[in-house]
Amino acid sequence: MIVITGATGALGGAVVDHLLKTHAPERIAVAVRDPQKAQRFADRGIEVRHADYAEPTSLPTAFAGADQLLLVSSSDPAADAVALHRNAVDAAAEARVGRVLYTSHQGAHPLNPFAPGRDHAATEWMLQESGLAWTSLRNGFYAHSLAWLLGPWQQTGVMTVPGEGPVSWTAREDAAEAAAAIIASEAPHDGPITLTAGHAPTFAEISSTASELVGRSIRVSVVDPEEWVASQIAAGSPEGAARFTLGIYLAAAEGYFAGVDPSLRTILGREPRTVRDVLGDVVA
Ligand SMILES: NC(=O)c1ccc[n+]([C@@H]2O[C@H](COP(=O)([O-])OP(=O)(O)OC[C@H]3O[C@@H](n4cnc5c(N)ncnc54)[C@H](OP(=O)(O)O)[C@@H]3O)[C@@H](O)[C@H]2O)c1
Repeated sequence: MIVITGATGALGGAVVDHLLKTHAPERIAVAVRDPQKAQRFADRGIEVRHADYAEPTSLPTAFAGADQLLLVSSSDPAADAVALHRNAVDAAAEARVGRVLYTSHQGAHPLNPFAPGRDHAATEWMLQESGLAWTSLRNGFYAHSLAWLLGPWQQTGVMTVPGEGPVSWTAREDAAEAAAAIIASEAPHDGPITLTAGHAPTFAEISSTASELVGRSIRVSVVDPEEWVASQIAAGSPEGAARFTLGIYLAAAEGYFAGVDPSLRTILGREPRTVRDVLGDVVA
């Protein structure tokens, strides 16, 4: 039995869709916060279970019988993700899950200025300590995030960023396909595996690509981080949200997202999507 959490979200849902190409629905269960949002899985004969990391008592039953459990990390920036993941890992141990596959992030490290990077490092550590077999899917930064991170550059001609550095922008669709392939594989991967696109462009390189795509000059403006936070607050963003996002740029500038790894290409058997592909969708 394969149990997929976060199936009502984008990555988890796409993983289930990929698994259904090779697995009977009876071999899959989804464990979700809101079963009503999971009707499309029930319609295909997949068992729908209730699981909320914030309700520890819901979890051991939801994870019961899992040879493999895809544990999708908390998506709520305001939540105590480490406490939620602690509940999930404890329940996986109680349910004697065969293997936990956890959606981590490239740059999972206790000193990462991007807060989820620290949470992922703490969760990987608890998996290591749990005695469970585990795989950490260290996905590259989702490339579609560029659509909002770069601001209204198509109108202004300027990408304003509070930090410059290479990032291995990776398509979430590719990360989902790879997760399903790893789950379906006969040879389990132990510990962290980094799943990134093949190139890690700087924002300057991204602006060159954007210039080519739109046929006019797009430039990058690297501004002072505190000035950037002030401008975000002035534009209506809560300060906490602005500082959360600032962490992405600071982590990029410190090289946390700079590495590229051939594993994703090998698993997919094709080139992963590139920033050019993703920006092409944005400007289309
Ligand atoms: N690599 C990256 O760049 C990047 C970027 C953003 C996020 N992420 C991480 O990758 C994960 C998957 O990405 P995604 O795009 O699929 O996110 P998503 O569409 O927001 O899906 C997140 C899923 O997690 C579920 N969830 C959240 N809190 C939960 C809880 N307390 N208990 C049980 N389930 C909970 C959500 O349930 P509901 O449907 O009920 O809300 C949703 O199904 C995210 O959760 C986040 O940790 C990575």
